[in-house]
Amino acid sequence: MITREECEALDAADPLAAFRKEFSLPEGIVYLDGNSLGALPVRTPERVREVVEAEWGRELIRSWNDAGWFEQPYRLGGRIAPMIGAGDGEVVVCDTTSVNLFKVLAAALRLRPGRRTVLGDGAAFPTDLYIAEGVTGLFDGTRSVLLPSPRELAGHLDDQVAAVVLSHVDYRTGELLDMAAITAQVQAAGALMIWDVCHSAGALPVELGSCGADFAVGCTYKYLNGGPGSPAFLYVAGRHQAAAEQPLSGWFGHARPFSFEPGYAPTDGIGRFLTSSPSLLGQAALGASLDVWERADLNAVRAKSLSLTDLFITLVEPLDVEVATPREHARRGSQVALRHPDGYPVVQALIERGVIGDFRAPDLMRFGFTPLYLSYAQVWDAAGQLAEVLESGEWREERFGRRGAVT
Ligand SMILES: Cc1ncc(COP(=O)(O)O)c(C=O)c1O
Repeated sequence: MITREECEALDAADPLAAFRKEFSLPEGIVYLDGNSLGALPVRTPERVREVVEAEWGRELIRSWNDAGWFEQPYRLGGRIAPMIGAGDGEVVVCDTTSVNLFKVLAAALRLRPGRRTVLGDGAAFPTDLYIAEGVTGLFDGTRSVLLPSPRELAGHLDDQVAAVVLSHVDYRTGELLDMAAITAQVQAAGALMIWDVCHSAGALPVELGSCGADFAVGCTYKYLNGGPGSPAFLYVAGRHQAAAEQPLSGWFGHARPFSFEPGYAPTDGIGRFLTSSPSLLGQAALGASLDVWERADLNAVRAKSLSLTDLFITLVEPLDVEVATPREHARRGSQVALRHPDGYPVVQALIERGVIGDFRAPDLMRFGFTPLYLSYAQVWDAAGQLAEVLESGEWREERFGRRGAVT
C-alpha cells in the first residue's frame, strides 16, 4: 500500500502545488467538498471590497459605464468560454443554473415546433427535472419523460423528442458521460442537446464546441470558486443564436435597453439570453477566482484530479464501503462516491475530525477532489481518518445522526 512519504514525494513534484497558497482554507482541514462549494480564493475579499467601496461607494452610478458593469456578463462569459470549449460570444454569466436551464430549454422547444417530448435522466440533480416539468407545462401537449438511466437513451429517442437534458457528470456517483457520442446520437434523431456542466466546468476540460453541443448551463460556485450562490453561465452554440428566443425577455436582452420601448426586440447574439441587471458583487467575486483559473492548465488539473481520485479509491477500497464511482478514467469526473448504509453519521464523524465531505441520500458519501488546493498527502490523511471512523464505530454516537437542513 502507498505510504504517506510517497504521497509527499508526489506533492513535491506536483506542477499545480503553487496554487494552494492562492486559496484561503482553515488550518487542519482537508476540504473534500469543492464539488459543492469551492474554496475562497485569497484575492476575492479584496476584489469585492474594491467593487463595494470604490466602484459602488465612490463612483456610484457612473460605474455602469466607467467600470464596465454593463458588459460584465459578456466579459465573464468570454473568460469562462475557453474552459468549456466554447467560442467568442457563445457564453454569458447571469442568473442561476435553474433559471438558465429554463431559458435554454424553452428556446430549444421553440426551435423544434411539433416535437413534444423533453428527455431527462430520472437520477439527475432534481432542479433540472423540476425545470423541465415547469417548461413543458407551458407548451401545450408537451411532456417531460425521465429515463431510468442515460444508458436507456437510444430506446427513447424518437421523432417526438425536441430536446435532451443531461448532466455531464452525475452529482451522486461522479460518473462522466461521453459528451461527443451522446450529442451526436441525440442530434441524429433530430433533437437538440442541452448539457448541465455544473460538475465538470473547472473539473476537467469540457469541449462543448467540438462535441457539437447545442446549449449548456453551469454554475460557478463549485469547481470555479465563485462563492456561495455566485452567478451561473449559459452557452448557446453560435449557429442557433439568430433563431433562438427565450421567454424571460427582460430589458437586458433587448436590442436597445435604454430606448425604453414598450415592445420587446431581442438583441443579436448571446445577449438575448440575458434578462436582468447582473448581480455585480457576485460577479466581482467570480472575476477574482477566474484570475486564478486563467493561470491554471486544465489538462494538468485533469491529470492531477485523476491521480488524486485513483489514490483515494485505492486507499479506501479495502474498507467496509462500496465504491460507486466508475474506475475507468474516461467515465470518472472529479469526485469519489462511497456507499455505506450509515453514510450520513459517518460523514458527520469525519467532519468532526476535520475531513469535510458530504452526503446524498440514501447512502452516498461524496468526496470532491479539487487539484488546485488539495495535496496527495491530504488525500492519504483523509482515507486514514475514514478508516479510523469506520473501525472505531464512533459514528454510532447519537449526535452524528442529527440532520441539518443541508446535508
Ligand atoms: C447538476 C446540478 N444542476 C443544478 C444545480 C443547482 O442549480 P442552482 O444554482 O439553480 O441552485 C446543482 C446544484 O448543486 C447541480 O449539482
